[in-house]
Amino acid sequence: MERPFPTVAVVGLGTMGAGVAVALARSGRRVIGVEAGPTQALRALGRIEASTARAVERGRLSADERAALLALIEVGDDLHAAARADLVVEEVPEDLELKRSLFAELDRICPPETVLATGTTALSVTRIAAATARPERVLGVHFFNPVHSMRLVEVVRTVLTSAQAAEQVAELARSLDKEPVAAGDRAGFIANGLLFAYLNQAAAMFESRYATREDIDAAMRLGCGLPMGPLALLDLIGIDTARTVLEAMYAQSKDRLHAPAPVLGQLVAAGLLGRKSGRGFYTYEAPGSSKAVPEQQADARPRAAGREVRGIGVCGSGTMATGIVEVFAKAGFPVLLAARSQEKAERAKAQLARSLERSVARGRLSEQDRDAALALVTPTGSYRDLADADLVVEAVAEDLAVKRELFAALDAIAKPGAVLATTTSSLPVISCATATSRPRDVVGMHFFNPAPAMKLVEVVSTVLTAEDVTATVLELCAKVRKHPVECGDRAGFIVNALLFPYLNDAVRMLQEHYATVDDIDTAMKLGCGYPMGPFELLDVVGLDVSLTIEQVLHQEFREPGLAAAPLLEHLVAAGCLGRKTGRGFRDHARR
Ligand SMILES: NC(=O)c1ccc[n+]([C@@H]2O[C@H](COP(=O)([O-])OP(=O)(O)OC[C@H]3O[C@@H](n4cnc5c(N)ncnc54)[C@H](O)[C@@H]3O)[C@@H](O)[C@H]2O)c1
Repeated sequence: MERPFPTVAVVGLGTMGAGVAVALARSGRRVIGVEAGPTQALRALGRIEASTARAVERGRLSADERAALLALIEVGDDLHAAARADLVVEEVPEDLELKRSLFAELDRICPPETVLATGTTALSVTRIAAATARPERVLGVHFFNPVHSMRLVEVVRTVLTSAQAAEQVAELARSLDKEPVAAGDRAGFIANGLLFAYLNQAAAMFESRYATREDIDAAMRLGCGLPMGPLALLDLIGIDTARTVLEAMYAQSKDRLHAPAPVLGQLVAAGLLGRKSGRGFYTYEAPGSSKAVPEQQADARPRAAGREVRGIGVCGSGTMATGIVEVFAKAGFPVLLAARSQEKAERAKAQLARSLERSVARGRLSEQDRDAALALVTPTGSYRDLADADLVVEAVAEDLAVKRELFAALDAIAKPGAVLATTTSSLPVISCATATSRPRDVVGMHFFNPAPAMKLVEVVSTVLTAEDVTATVLELCAKVRKHPVECGDRAGFIVNALLFPYLNDAVRMLQEHYATVDDIDTAMKLGCGYPMGPFELLDVVGLDVSLTIEQVLHQEFREPGLAAAPLLEHLVAAGCLGRKTGRGFRDHARR
């Protein structure tokens, strides 16, 4: 294809427009910048000069390249200059009437073949296009901030946009070394549509005091490998901006999960807009600073001290049990590995030995430490041997009847004062607790797979858990170098309750033919910095496991938006469970 759009006008040279202008000029295109007035034009030019000078300082651009690209950019305040452009990119503030009147004027000024693109995040591209007499040549081009480093570009078609115009703009994006994805006209498009629904749930979780802001953020960073926690991210984005995007999403979807959490409105009303105003969910050193500072805690009361833990028992012989035994043994705790038979326990210990061996081979563990850890692990086929353990961690099958039976048995065996923990990820901890005569001593310890590598442990207290039992587990986590977060006993705890609705939203987007598997995965990786796209993750986790968690969440909260997407149910019914069966959202079968 011929290189599209040799001359591009950029209207509005603020945060986004200035970045877009520089990216276009770097690709050798002529750029006609238009600002609202002469002062704004001067300021915009200053911004472009300053940002390119920084790029030279950081070695991203040579001085010659900078001079060449600056020579390609003109900045003025007369919109008529846009008549010389092949494409106009609008990047003025997010205001529908402003954008509509601007497009009406551009429509009068520009020749009929000129393509007009809006940079809106959450406004209706269709309504902007309707202000012109050329809706087939109007589309959305959604760059991400900062433009120079973010590779994602969402190319948004309305029902009237011509395929040719969309393909030309996608080609333009590729020539800027960006990755274009195709989206339809819906508030938030792909990346923000999925991201903001999740951020909203995190805000609501904080608001309900289910967990602290630090714990919610740590859980999503450490449990899912996200670059930032949701509340810190809301502060970065700006609470007002987030609320506006969510309002626009709700107006279109009528999905209650998109209705801005009340706390967002309160923060905005109080002028606590996030980093830019020095305070949002967190308090910062100064407005604009990224450094959060601790606040005075008026009602902080001393915490109970934990019970002493010397010997630990772990019940189970599967992946989680073996991984958890490894965590404790490596930290120097003697561990009884208790399975249903001596043989199963021996096999699990052999598995553990292989895992330690791999760590040695990778240079992460010395041979002495390997031997010391292995010597601390005693396999047994009899739960009776757990009588002396100070803490027993249960990691058997995810089946309530099986777990309750085990807890009843442990109740008969464990010494008084022993802490009994379950690693369940989707069953109520309280149901394990009530199988014993000592529910105060029962707590949840939700490890993540692989346990030796994943830092996060969700510490789940029921309404009956004693404070010193929770404290015991929190202290132990610190000793075995895990990061504990505290939460209550409800479906999904923190991580799964925030993660799976997002995965479900992605499936729904696919099911509605809004975007493709590849484009959705690309949008989340490049637009939000996620380590994996939602479909990659679903295929790894397993579609059956994901469906079960979504059903449990829906069952608990009865929120219509949490109902599992029928497409997921269909794939599970068809036996497409992800990587483990060779096929899920993608085909993994070897060719
Ligand atoms: N900031 C982000 O992270 C981000 C990311 C993606 C998309 N967007 C979207 O990009 C668009 C621009 O946002 P921004 O953050 O760059 O805003 P901004 O406030 O930084 O910049 C807007 C610029 O437009 C100028 N302007 C206002 N009215 C004008 C007019 N009539 N003619 C010409 N120029 C005019 C202003 O002087 C200002 O320089 C918005 O639609 C926004 O939603 C923003």
